[in-house]
Amino acid sequence: MSDAEQDMKQQLIKQALEARKRAYVPYSQYPVGAALLTGSGKIYHGVNIENAAFPVTICAERVAIFKAVSDNDMDLRAIAVVTKNGGTPCGSCRQVMAEFNPDLKIYIADENGNITLETVLKDILPGYFGPDSLVR
Ligand code: THU
Repeated sequence: MSDAEQDMKQQLIKQALEARKRAYVPYSQYPVGAALLTGSGKIYHGVNIENAAFPVTICAERVAIFKAVSDNDMDLRAIAVVTKNGGTPCGSCRQVMAEFNPDLKIYIADENGNITLETVLKDILPGYFGPDSLVR
């Protein structure tokens, strides 16, 4: 990994940590922060947003991705996700990631910013159903 890539990785983790402070988690008390880099160079932030009707809750990763896609910024490159204990993206978030980039880089870190996992989407969602799977 080049120095520039290392710097960006640290930047994403730092921004995910900062975003995490804004998580809306009255029910789980498990804040999650995400920072997503796109090909345009922009970084989109996401937090989990819970709801009294529990299933309506949305994860931090999807908030960040939907913010980017809704700005027509769909070339997703790398995402940092920060939780207390280095939790990994849920199945629904992995599926949303697969839609846009199976090679998406994923940096998982704990609340101290220590990286616990560095991977790419296709390695954590093998056999994913993506746009090319949908033959009509
Ligand atoms: N959560 C995320 O934000 N991302 C994940 O990938 C896993 C779970 C949130 C949803 C809920 O607000 C809390 O963490 C506990 O499940």
